[in-house]
Amino acid sequence: MKRPTPALGATSFEDAREGDGWRTLAEDVLDGLTRPFKELPPKYAYDSRGSALFDRICELPEYYPTRTERSILERAAGELIAATGASELVELGSGSATKTRLLLDAMAAADTLQRFVAVDVTERAVRESAAELTREYPGLQVHGLIGDFERHLDRLPPATGPRLLAFLGGTIGNFAPASRQRFLGTIAGLLSDRDHLLLGTDLVKDRATLEAAYDDSDGISAEFNRNILLVINRELGANFDPAGFQHVARFDAENERMDIRLRAREAQEVVLPAIDLTVRFAAGEELRTEISSKFTRERVAAELSAAGLALAAWHTDENDWFALSLARPASV
Ligand SMILES: C[S@@+](CC[C@H](N)C(=O)[O-])C[C@H]1O[C@@H](n2cnc3c(N)ncnc32)[C@H](O)[C@@H]1O
Repeated sequence: MKRPTPALGATSFEDAREGDGWRTLAEDVLDGLTRPFKELPPKYAYDSRGSALFDRICELPEYYPTRTERSILERAAGELIAATGASELVELGSGSATKTRLLLDAMAAADTLQRFVAVDVTERAVRESAAELTREYPGLQVHGLIGDFERHLDRLPPATGPRLLAFLGGTIGNFAPASRQRFLGTIAGLLSDRDHLLLGTDLVKDRATLEAAYDDSDGISAEFNRNILLVINRELGANFDPAGFQHVARFDAENERMDIRLRAREAQEVVLPAIDLTVRFAAGEELRTEISSKFTRERVAAELSAAGLALAAWHTDENDWFALSLARPASV
C-alpha cells in the first residue's frame, strides 16, 4: 500500500471549548431537568469512562451497527474514495477512529491521502487517536478539533484539497428531527463543489434486534446510560445514585427511533449545588438520555435534499440493517 512521505507528517490540536464546556453542561442540565418531561443530551455521557464503555458496546454481539457499518466500509471504501477523489478526511464524532482506518487505507491506496481532521467532544479520544494515526500513517497530517460538532464547526481548518466529511456510527440519529435538519443544512454549508458527505445511518428493522442492541445481556449499555449521572455528579457536585435508576431501551415504532431512558426505581430527590437546583423524581419517573432514529433510504434522500444535498451513492449490507450515503452539494 502506498503511504505519503514521512516528511509531511504533523499533528496539531485546537480545543474549541475554551473553558466553556462546564457552562454548557450546567445550562443544558438545568434546562433538561427542570422540564415537565426530564431530558439530558447524550453528548455528556462521553467522558473518558463513557467513551471506553462505548468502545466495549461496539464489540458486543448484540450491537450490530458498528460491525455492519464496518462490513460496508470494507467492501465500499475504495469505490467511495474513487468517487470523491478526497485527499482530506474530516470525521465528526470520530471517537477512537477505528472504522476511519478503512477510509484512510483507501485514500492511501489511491495515493490521495494528505490530512485527517478529527472532531470529538472527548479530548482523550481525539489526542489518542491522533497519536495512533500519525504512527500508523507516516506523513499523514492530523488535526484534532476538541469540541462540539453542534457549536464549533466554524473552527474547522480550511480544506487543503477535496474533502470527505464523514459522520459515521449512526450518530446523526441522536438529533431530534428539526435539529437534524438544521445540522444537515450546516454541513451542506461547509461543503464546496468538490467535497462530499459520507453519512452513516442505522435503518428501521425489527423491534427485538433494535432493543437488544441497546440493552445487552452484559449490562454494558445500561452502565453507559448511567454514566451521564456520574458525569453530572463530578461536574456539578450532584448526588445522583446511579443504582437508583433502571436502564430502559424501547423502540418507538411511530417515530421510528430508539428511546433510551433512566427510570427512577423509587421516589428520590437529587441536589445539584453548582446550579442551585434540587430535582425530584417520582417512583417510576423516566428521564430521557438519548434518542437514536432509524432511517429508510427515502427518508435519508429527502432530508439530504431538504438540506441542499443530493444522494450520490447508497451502500448497505446484505440485511439492509445499516446504510452509508454519499452526498454532494445539489448544485454540482
Ligand atoms: C456513537 S459514538 C460513534 C463513534 C464513532 N464515530 C463510531 O462510528 O463508532 C458518538 C461519538 O460522537 C462523539 N460526540 C457525541 N456528541 C458530540 C458532539 N455534540 N460534538 C462532538 N462529538 C460528539 C462522542 O464523543 C463519540 O465519540
